[in-house]
Amino acid sequence: MLQVSHVTKKFGGVKAVDDFSFNVKKGTIHSIIGPNGAGKTTLVNMITGVYKVDSGTVFLDGSDITNLATNKLVHRGVCRTFQHLEICGNLTVIENVMLGFDKYMDKNILRSCFRASSILEDEKRYFKRGMHLLDLIGLADFADFEAKNLSYGILKKLEIIRALATSPEVMLLDEPVAGLNPKETQEVSELIKTVVADELTVILVEHDMKMIMQISDHITVMNFGQKLAEGTPSEIVNNEEVIKAYLGSGALNGK
Ligand SMILES: Nc1ncnc2c1ncn2[C@@H]1O[C@H](COP(=O)(O)OP(=O)(O)OP(=O)(O)O)[C@@H](O)[C@H]1O
Ligand SMILES: [Mg+2]
Repeated sequence: MLQVSHVTKKFGGVKAVDDFSFNVKKGTIHSIIGPNGAGKTTLVNMITGVYKVDSGTVFLDGSDITNLATNKLVHRGVCRTFQHLEICGNLTVIENVMLGFDKYMDKNILRSCFRASSILEDEKRYFKRGMHLLDLIGLADFADFEAKNLSYGILKKLEIIRALATSPEVMLLDEPVAGLNPKETQEVSELIKTVVADELTVILVEHDMKMIMQISDHITVMNFGQKLAEGTPSEIVNNEEVIKAYLGSGALNGK
């Protein structure tokens, strides 16, 4: 479904991503792991149009999406979340989710979107779908809370729900459970698994190895902007080079 071919990104003299290629199969959870500074976020930023590639190509379902702007990519079914929260603090939780539906609403509908007095049919439908999405991860009770008053854990979940509201085909998640407690991490893992069961493709960047091992179909390991290894979770956890560069010997006994 997604073919990333020989992409390179330099910052000054540093090759953050260096001639990197990988393919993602439809309907799978494909994880990208590697040490801090390995180039994972830069890669996600190139796939999602935040950074332009210096060279290389990105194909989605056989068509060239290299360097397409992020808003155009959303229309092609590509969405992402950020390593650092990108939530509108002054909007409520449900309003943040409804921003995700933006691509389906014309400007007039969007303008009247939050005026309770003139709720149109479409708005009602999107509101209902938004509430359904919030319910998937136990956030429905927070729908009317202003986002700025909520905990970091809730906002991390909200980011995923807002990305889901765009009805994506491919979702890129950059450290979705960083800073979450074990219970929240488990909830997010389950949400991602449920979403994939619904035919969505997920590219997951994470340092939480327990989660990675539990939910990944396939793992690509990056180091210094290049591919260090690729394989199933059990192949990766037993790969000597990966253990040396990233996992440490603890990975083998589940630490
Ligand atoms: N906007 C930028 N300007 C300059 N250098 C950058 C920029 N973005 C990333 N880099 C550099 O590119 C390299 C890769 O960074 P990147 O953020 O992609 O790593 P990462 O694998 O996501 O790390 P982490 O696990 O810590 O999030 C690093 O050396 C980083 O300093
Ligand atoms: Mg990163």
